[in-house]
Amino acid sequence: MRTTQLLKTAFTGTGVQDTLNQYANRFDHGHARPEDRIAEAAALSSEYYGLATDFYLHGWGKLFHFGVRQKGQSMQDSLLAYETYLADKLQLHVGERCLDLGCGVGGPMINIAKYAGVSITGINNSFYQIEKGQEFVREARLSSQCNFLYCDWMKVPMRDGTFNKAYGIEATCHAAGRRTELFREVHRLLSPGGLFATYEWVMTEKYDATDPRHQEIKRQIEIGDGLSDITDAADVTDSLQAAGFEVMECKDRATECDPQTPWYQPLCGDGRFSISQLRTSPIGRRVMHTALSGLERLHLIPQGSTRVHEVLETAADGLVAGGELGIFTPMLFVLARKV
Ligand SMILES: C[S@@+](CC[C@H](N)C(=O)[O-])C[C@H]1O[C@@H](n2cnc3c(N)ncnc32)[C@H](O)[C@@H]1O
Repeated sequence: MRTTQLLKTAFTGTGVQDTLNQYANRFDHGHARPEDRIAEAAALSSEYYGLATDFYLHGWGKLFHFGVRQKGQSMQDSLLAYETYLADKLQLHVGERCLDLGCGVGGPMINIAKYAGVSITGINNSFYQIEKGQEFVREARLSSQCNFLYCDWMKVPMRDGTFNKAYGIEATCHAAGRRTELFREVHRLLSPGGLFATYEWVMTEKYDATDPRHQEIKRQIEIGDGLSDITDAADVTDSLQAAGFEVMECKDRATECDPQTPWYQPLCGDGRFSISQLRTSPIGRRVMHTALSGLERLHLIPQGSTRVHEVLETAADGLVAGGELGIFTPMLFVLARKV
């Protein structure tokens, strides 16, 4: 699909400028309050993904998450392995019912359903992502195993104990500050003894909340990724326990990456031109930026598209800096059991 078509599809409905202004106001230094962002996290993330989804599809494909990349392993293989690792930890059995919290466009759900033979319901409050996901599920001929539910994960219209297993892949970071509430809902939806696995975005022990550079990086990741706040590993495990889970495992998988290919490597590239990194590397991002501002001047794409791209650039800068300093990880793996 060409870029112009791609962006037009994303920006039907509310104007990009309006959504963008609303989104930016939530982070306005002078006025916006973090507690308001936390309370309105669902609206914030749906604005964000309304703006960013086509850029994600273009840059990352159908899987909106990072991966633990080993020496000689392709990026795609590492992303798949990241998902099957979680599937193995969940001990999925053929025919089980599984919940995917914040399922994106369904890429991980398709891979896990194929891998483990389970049926999966993907929850998402981005209608646009669900529409895309339905297309991908049909293409993969997995409609009998994969389905979507459009709702806020804080209030899922399904009966208690519907699912045997549940997981979230780099998604529940959008509920930082209200994780206990969310995990209570997951607990309710699981059958007794049901397992829940999640990859969480958190600040690590190296994060110093009094260091202005650290504060700036955290803020870049929040603004650039539609997050109301970023908390730490203790917040995740405490919230799980408060919601009635037993935490069985908690570890930062960033330490498992090959040092040559840390998780944030696709965002920094190696300074040389490479087709495989064109869409995510700094060079590729500069090319994209120039192309977008040209198209916007010619009125071939909605006004505001270049600013959306700048928001995503902010994310990339924050993620790379956070990764290099080791103050942030997107891959805290946590496994818990309903007790
Ligand atoms: C970074 S994406 C991860 C998507 C997917 N897990 C993947 O790895 O490809 C986060 C997802 O969480 C969803 N999300 C955020 N807040 C939500 C909410 N309140 N209710 C339901 N889904 C939500 C977003 O729409 C998005 O699909």
